[in-house]
Amino acid sequence: MIAFPEAAAGAAAAAAPAAAALVTIDQATRTFNARDSGKPFHALGPVSFDLREGEFFSVVGPSGCGKSTLLDLIAGLCAPTSGSVTFEGKTVNGQVPDGVAVVFQEDASFPWLSVYDNAAFGVRRAGLPENEIRERVEHALAFMGLANFAKSYPSQLSGGMRQRVCIARAMVLRPRLMLLDEPFGALDQQTRLLMGEEMLKLWRDTGSTVMLITHSIDEAVLLSDRIGVMSSRPGTFIDIVDTGWSRERDAQTAMDPRYGALQAQIWGMLRGESIKALGARP
Ligand SMILES: Nc1ncnc2c1ncn2[C@@H]1O[C@H](COP(=O)(O)OP(=O)(O)OP(=O)(O)O)[C@@H](O)[C@H]1O
Ligand SMILES: [Mg+2]
Repeated sequence: MIAFPEAAAGAAAAAAPAAAALVTIDQATRTFNARDSGKPFHALGPVSFDLREGEFFSVVGPSGCGKSTLLDLIAGLCAPTSGSVTFEGKTVNGQVPDGVAVVFQEDASFPWLSVYDNAAFGVRRAGLPENEIRERVEHALAFMGLANFAKSYPSQLSGGMRQRVCIARAMVLRPRLMLLDEPFGALDQQTRLLMGEEMLKLWRDTGSTVMLITHSIDEAVLLSDRIGVMSSRPGTFIDIVDTGWSRERDAQTAMDPRYGALQAQIWGMLRGESIKALGARP
């Protein structure tokens, strides 16, 4: 059992009937300046929802609907054009809030650093003492199955291992909120299933709140407490589906008859939206 004291309060809250909101998004939209037409390009929203302390929340939606943009708003990497985003009651504003860690859609390992130094990157910047850093990094590398690769460089690893390095780097920060943008997108189905199980273990053991963006309905249904289903761009939540799983869920949960029903329910909502998103292509 990994003890993340900062997150333990969140786990306790999740067990209570009404968990507190860790993140509140209120009528948030994001518009970009289109490079060619010069017209504003409406990428997201308006979106309103709460991320509850200690929950595992997944977001599914057609490609280009604004999922990464939503994650960027919560991570403070881009500002809402209108509306607001708060983390622990404070407005998110221009930088990643303390207590939040992000794993990006693309491989974001640093090729010039060893696996150990990649994992230590965030905590070194935070100025933690070296013995504390060593303890956290060794723990995270062991947890992610990378203990024997501490001295390797990303170029010597498979794509899946590089993503695990990025998850380890987020994990050593001991975040209260982990934001994961399609972290297993490049992996084969078997590795992806195993990584999903690891994510569940990490979530359960640390008490951290998780928001996972995924293209896989199966993954979302298996892993999540709640699934936010997004419309085609500009993305809004069509529905937020409660799975009702217990915290102790695992791969066996896929045998539950409700699993198939949830998959069908979500695909029923997404099918039309995905066709719309494809139709909007040039
Ligand atoms: N910095 C930017 N400048 C202009 N347009 C952008 C920018 N970032 C995103 N967009 C546009 O906003 C829309 C939403 O993008 P976003 O990356 O959030 O989609 P997504 O749902 O994450 O897609 P995918 O599933 O393919 O990762 C897209 O049409 C994209 O082209
Ligand atoms: Mg994306």
